[in-house]
Amino acid sequence: MSSEPNRLQVFFTVLLGYCVARPYKRYVESFDLAGNEVVLDYGSGSGRISRHIAELLLSGKGHLTCVDVSKVWMETIQKRLKKYPNVDYKLGDIAALDIADNAYDIVVVHFVLHHVEKDERQEKVDILARKLKPHGRLFIREPTREQHGTPAVEIRAVMSTAGLHERESRMSRSLIMGEVFDGVFYKPPV
Ligand SMILES: C[S@@+](CC[C@H](N)C(=O)[O-])C[C@H]1O[C@@H](n2cnc3c(N)ncnc32)[C@H](O)[C@@H]1O
Repeated sequence: MSSEPNRLQVFFTVLLGYCVARPYKRYVESFDLAGNEVVLDYGSGSGRISRHIAELLLSGKGHLTCVDVSKVWMETIQKRLKKYPNVDYKLGDIAALDIADNAYDIVVVHFVLHHVEKDERQEKVDILARKLKPHGRLFIREPTREQHGTPAVEIRAVMSTAGLHERESRMSRSLIMGEVFDGVFYKPPV
């Protein structure tokens, strides 16, 4: 479902990321990272979230993996985050990427799920759940509009089927995106 952005989209998205950084920084701070975690940002795009994660992981020698299917976004984020030695980049479908299972403390899915074809969402979330270590947490923010989002009931269903337990969630409202689901899911040990 994802298509490559044009140069104007990239320019304005990166600009907006610099101008409106605070709420995203605060969101990442809510993960309560110690700094030594291993984090996967699924659908990392321009790095709006990733750059704050990379910064917080510097002190504790943590590591961030950015995954995206878009070559243009991958090139953009690599330029933007080049000062962070603690980040690696994986371009392509997560199903085909060489990423170890049970390897990540945190997985982040920020405004991505609705970009994945509806009938592929369960498969992708199953894979993301496998990438988490036992006791790992998945943070998801997702608009809930049926036309451009994923309804909360569907988000909860795919997480539950993937074996993840809801820790907390809330709804907020964004001027552009409308209602937004903000949730934390937990991977219980087997
Ligand atoms: C709206 S952007 C969000 C980017 C970033 N998470 C943020 O909040 O700034 C959606 C991103 O998901 C990526 N994406 C779409 N489908 C994907 C898939 N199946 N696997 C990985 N990334 C995907 C797109 O290329 C794009 O970078």
